[in-house]
Amino acid sequence: MNGTDNFNPHQIIWKDQRLVLHPERCLWWPARRILMVADLHLGKARSFHKHGIPVPESSMDDIARLRNILQIFNPRELVFLGDLVHDRDSLEEPAARALTQLRDEFRITMILTPGNHDLDLNSLARLVPCLQVEKSVWMNPFRLLHNSEDCSGSEASICGHVHPGVRVRTGSHSSARFPCFALDHDKNTLTLPAFGGFTGMHLLETAPNLETYPVVENTVFPHGNGSKDGFRKNPR
Ligand SMILES: [Fe+2]
Repeated sequence: MNGTDNFNPHQIIWKDQRLVLHPERCLWWPARRILMVADLHLGKARSFHKHGIPVPESSMDDIARLRNILQIFNPRELVFLGDLVHDRDSLEEPAARALTQLRDEFRITMILTPGNHDLDLNSLARLVPCLQVEKSVWMNPFRLLHNSEDCSGSEASICGHVHPGVRVRTGSHSSARFPCFALDHDKNTLTLPAFGGFTGMHLLETAPNLETYPVVENTVFPHGNGSKDGFRKNPR
């Protein structure tokens, strides 16, 4: 990182690998110089507009956030862990062009492990020709893919799909829901929060072998079982 940002990420060690959980809801794997993001759902607002729901468009904001993160980490590869787009025809040309420009500007390999919303891979390939589509990616010791249920539990997986969130106490009589990273030791899976700004959240129940790391503003921190891991603050 360049030291000029105001983010407070959190690092964990899993399978002997240092992983940085970043408050922009992305995962940085320094040893491989891979940046992972899940569930952008680009064009979701456009889908809503078609059904008469006048929500603001956020795809270009999400791509601007992504560009900022690429500047911070300068990765070798960018892996989209599925649901890059929200609907069959929701990716508009400006967003597609912006993705291609990111690839050119940062000279990264861009890989998509498709999700259940990435229905029209032919259109995606036409609009973003630099995108490599792989059902899943094996990057020892991790399997990268959209849905951990498509992975054998014997392999450690890094995935998206769930849009995990947790409820965090914010006062003696108040609590709030926040997106989170979720490390489930029973399922052998690390799940990323949804990167997209206009996405839903699935609230997780606490469980003995589940560590959660909520994202609150510019900070990621260990919560519940996650607070036992001993890596409290601020990797660089
Ligand atoms: Fe999703």
